[in-house]
Amino acid sequence: MKPVLYIVRALPGGDLSPLRGLFEIRGGAPRPPPRERLVEEARDAAVLVPTYIDRVDAALVDALPALRHVASYGVGVNHVDLDACRRRGVLVTNTPGVLTDATADHAMALLLAAARRVVEADRIVRSGGWTEVDPAWMLGTEVTGKTVGVVGFGRIGQAFARRARGFDLRVLYASPRDAGVTWAERVSLDELLTESDFVSLHVPLTSASQDLLSRDRIALLKPGAIVVNTARGGVLDDAALAEALGEGRVGAAGLDVFPNEPRVPEAYLRLPNVVLTPHLGSGTRETRAAMARLALEDAARVGRGEPPLHPVP
Ligand code: DGY
Repeated sequence: MKPVLYIVRALPGGDLSPLRGLFEIRGGAPRPPPRERLVEEARDAAVLVPTYIDRVDAALVDALPALRHVASYGVGVNHVDLDACRRRGVLVTNTPGVLTDATADHAMALLLAAARRVVEADRIVRSGGWTEVDPAWMLGTEVTGKTVGVVGFGRIGQAFARRARGFDLRVLYASPRDAGVTWAERVSLDELLTESDFVSLHVPLTSASQDLLSRDRIALLKPGAIVVNTARGGVLDDAALAEALGEGRVGAAGLDVFPNEPRVPEAYLRLPNVVLTPHLGSGTRETRAAMARLALEDAARVGRGEPPLHPVP
């Protein structure tokens, strides 16, 4: 009998055919089943394939006695209880690297859209609000030549920073490690916040980064600063950010991620100076397919008794 591989929801671009010889494949419906049905359907699964949004908590790990491998589709692993997996000897793998460029592109798109009021302007034009020519109307913030602070300087943070250099931005970064590059300056987080015109978040969500951009730190931002978050909801204080945006202390924001997706904090919906996207950092056809390939490749490798490419430590 082949071991069972359970896919929590369909993976865009995921080709399951190479896995069919190794596993009995179950799940993979367009929407994930409710928890009770998931537990029932995946009870004898050796491999579980969740996406970056499907919670794999201790209760689920405990409810799946045959589970050996969580092959997660996505780079972030905050949705997986790693301790519970460790305790049970369950391997966790993820899909780093393939989504770096798409996510960095999206962060740059949010920065430009927020600075140049692209979405707000589009809404006004569509609703017939462009009724006269006025050179003083709808002015945005110049991007070129300013200072950007990159919080978290891993793969995605650095890819975003390289794009920022294309706009002649001075790059500051805050990171526990020195990246050893000459074109960006490592500073403390507080210094980054007080010096940057734009701040882009690129840290994974962990207990250390929860509310990293706290109310007190938001108060340190330069007046009119622009905040971009393509990392995770939970790394900033949404209530404090919405308040600062409403008062104009923070000039604008481009936000792709939220603590309880698909819910978006109400306050943002009323603010014209916020650009909102539905967790699309990696959302290109090419990248989502590459993520599927990588997640499934590690499932296959482990199924064949080979070491995985991307084990999560
Ligand atoms: C991830 O892989 O963690 C991303 O958030 C998906 O866009």
